This record gives sequence, C-alpha cells and structure tokens, in this order.
Amino acid sequence: MGSLSETDRPKFGQALNQLKELIEDQIRQKEQSLGLKTAQGDVSFDPTLPGISPRIGKLHPITQTIQEISDIFTRLGFETVDGREIETEFYNFTALNIPLDHPSRDAFDTFYTESGHLLRSQTSTVQVRVMEKRKPPIRIIAPGRVYRPDAVDASHSFMFHQIEGLMVDARTTFSDLKGVLHLFLRKLLGPDIKMRFRPHFFPFTEPSVEIDVSWGKGWLELLGAGQVDPAVFEAVGYNPKKVQGFAFGLGVERIAMLKYGIKDIRLFYENDLRFLEQF
Ligand code: DAH
Repeated sequence: MGSLSETDRPKFGQALNQLKELIEDQIRQKEQSLGLKTAQGDVSFDPTLPGISPRIGKLHPITQTIQEISDIFTRLGFETVDGREIETEFYNFTALNIPLDHPSRDAFDTFYTESGHLLRSQTSTVQVRVMEKRKPPIRIIAPGRVYRPDAVDASHSFMFHQIEGLMVDARTTFSDLKGVLHLFLRKLLGPDIKMRFRPHFFPFTEPSVEIDVSWGKGWLELLGAGQVDPAVFEAVGYNPKKVQGFAFGLGVERIAMLKYGIKDIRLFYENDLRFLEQF
C-alpha cells in the first residue's frame, strides 16, 4: 500500500474491505448450510469426544528378527555393520577364496550386471570390506539382502536376508566360535536347545562346519561357520600367522519361519497386511 498514490490508497482500502466482507459472508453461508451454529459461542465441536487415533505401523517380521539377533550380538560385543548389495567378483568370490571355476560363480547362481558387477549372493562380502579397512580386534555382524537366481517357491526366493558374523583377534579359537554361537542360539531359541556341529566345506573357512539345532525331535540346519581361511586373511593384507578368527552365516527368513511357524517364504514379500499385522 505504501507505494500507492494519495488518491489510490483509499480506493484500494475500500476494495479490500469489500473483499473481506464477501469472504466472511461466504463462510457464514457455508456454516449455515452445514448446520453449524457459530457466530459467537455455541460451537459444534465437542472436545470431549474421543479422537481418531492414527494407525500405528509395525516393523516387518524380517526386520524384527534382524533386530533381535543384532541385540543379542551387541551384548556379546559385536558391532552391526552395513555392506553393499551391488558388488564386484573380488568381494563376492575372489577375496573369499572361491576359485574361478566354482559353480556359485556361474550365471545360474549369481545375478551379473552388464557393467561387470553383481548382486551379492552372500553377506560374506562384508567380512572382506571390514577387514580391508580395519585392524583386529574385529567383532562384527552384517545383516542384509542377498540375491540368487532361484525359482521362487515356498522355501526359495531370488532375494532373501542373511546375517554374517566375523570375529578376529590375535587368538580367536574354534572354542570361541562354539561358545559365542551356543550363547547366541540359546538366547534366540531357548535355553533347552541342543546344538550339533557337522563337518562341512566352505572355501573361506577351514575347518568349516554346519550347525544344526534340536528341540528334542530331529535336527534343523541353521548356520554355516568355521575358522577364517588363511587365504582370506592374505587377500585383505593380514598376516595369517599373526591373527585368527571365526566367521558364520545364517539365513534370516529361515529363523523367522522357524520362530513364528511360517510355512511359505513368499508371505514375507507380498506386503499383505493380514499377514504383517500378526507380528
Ligand atoms: N556364505 C555362506 C552361504 O551363503 C554362509 C557362510 C558359511 C558364511 C560359513 C560364513 C561361514 O561366514 O563361515 O551359504
């Protein structure tokens, strides 16, 4: 208004007032048509009525399972670290002592991109990424997605979640591995479970085991684990004569299915609220 001339200013003021009255009129009309008695007092809003509570979401059962496992390892001194889902052959295979002719490198078992990258097929990649950057002592777990070109059915998906674990120090023995995983499994699944080690082979651990768990009837395979292979230490620039460590890997869906009695892995990915709201 300051920029208007002496003669224009009152006209402008008048026009503004008219506009204001027009708007007030419209509001009054609207209030009347809605049956609201406003004017002064008699407000139709009743503050004593209960409010409409917002719908509160939940964490996905896979996220809940990861958090539960991560909490247990936190208490054992393990840090939770993140990795990458798009990787190179070096991190997914070569540094993990997986030879060039190993079947898991085949395009039937790993998704490759045209740029020469791949979608990681295991979280073991994070072992290499962490050791490259840090010196021992190392105690980490690495949860995340992994990808494999599997046909989808009740127990397979082209994407699922794993948790990798790694502990490295001057002296980290197989009994440390056994102690840590026993504590973990009892905390996760109950104090009465039994644990069984079966000899196995993984290129990145030596010796390697598969670990089964039992609640009394039968055994269920839950983890792969072992002492870190000296070749892996060499690949990350550690002296295998000076350090020792253990590693393990587990499938998150498998544990969630076991814990909650879920029979079909596909339920995790369909985003059906009738399923998700149960957890
Ligand atoms: N990377 C393995 C897999 O995807 C799981 C595994 C086995 C991880 C043994 C480990 C290990 O760290 O020591 O089947």
